[in-house]
Amino acid sequence: MKKTTAAITAVGGYVPDFVLSNKVLETMVDTNDEWITTRTGIKERRILKKENAGTSYLAIKAAEDLIQKSGVDPSEIDFVLVATATPDLPVASTAAYVASEIGAVNAFAYDLQAACSSFLYGMSTAASYIESGRYKKVLVIGADKMSSIIDYTDRTTCIIFGDGAGAVLFEPNEEGLGLQDEYLRSDGVGRQFLKIDAGGSILPASEETVKNKQHYVYQDGKSVFKFAVSNMADVSALIMERNNLSHEDVHWLVPHQANKRIIDATANRMGVEPEKVMINIDRYGNTTSATLPLLLFDYEKQLKKGDNLIFAAFGGGFTWGSIYLKWAYNSK
Ligand code: UT7
Repeated sequence: MKKTTAAITAVGGYVPDFVLSNKVLETMVDTNDEWITTRTGIKERRILKKENAGTSYLAIKAAEDLIQKSGVDPSEIDFVLVATATPDLPVASTAAYVASEIGAVNAFAYDLQAACSSFLYGMSTAASYIESGRYKKVLVIGADKMSSIIDYTDRTTCIIFGDGAGAVLFEPNEEGLGLQDEYLRSDGVGRQFLKIDAGGSILPASEETVKNKQHYVYQDGKSVFKFAVSNMADVSALIMERNNLSHEDVHWLVPHQANKRIIDATANRMGVEPEKVMINIDRYGNTTSATLPLLLFDYEKQLKKGDNLIFAAFGGGFTWGSIYLKWAYNSK
């Protein structure tokens, strides 16, 4: 019997209109365009300014874009997964709300939180459901409203992050296309280096935590950089080796957009030429769970059926990993 694989069959995306440029950040904190560009590769990021709109707003827009472009009937979607580090509300599933709003009335839905690796892990979850034969249409959305947890007086974090969302549909494939292999890792040693101290079960919100600005992202950038640069390169090289892929066999590297220097180091280690590396950090910054699907959204028209894509991500926790996927369609 032929093995059923899980292929991406449609892509959608959304970024808010408001552009926060390096020039504007220069007026907000002690920084400059030259430092941000050379240290991170970021020129601008998008910020969701709409009142009372959370991550679900971004996720719904990305899903609606996918539905409109692909013509998929939302009532046929079996499962909606929202990969996010910034859910609308604590406790209540953001994915359940998104599923209802997009008309996925027959789906079950839940969120997956693994910081910047959320979408990568979500791809694995979606593919497993499809490969098992249990479900036929799985919508994976990576969405984050990072501006809701960033201190815009802290120059070490506010220059990095942006808001956005991307969505992909996974369906069964009988031609051997789609997800081929994965290598996912985590290490709890990382939690001290990238976190929000308050608002969780260890330190619930209080007057004190608000006063101490403990509800914002804290990052020890240097330490995270060291782990990210070696681990992202390691897993990407490993997945190539394990699948007998030379740099010529790799058509695209789809790397998490945390820092252009980390992306370059990963590509170098793999021997992949710069023109095969998907990049949008210059325009969106680090959109956390949305970086990978937004890359697919931006590059969809250049992708060809049978292309070998290597995804790689690294995030808080620590969480990281790599996925090898064969692209399943030519864009219309
Ligand atoms: O997506 C999840 C995973 N996250 C990551 O992978 C992020 C990994 N880390 C990084 O990308 C980098 O560490 C950062 C971009 C966050 C920082 O770059 P860096 O080259 O590691 O800078 P640094 O933290 O070592 O700081 C170097 C200097 C410091 O000044 P001194 O101590 O050398 O005088 C900082 O105070 O740059 C200073 N600095 C800034 N200067 C201008 C820090 N932030 C800024 C800024 N503008 N925004």
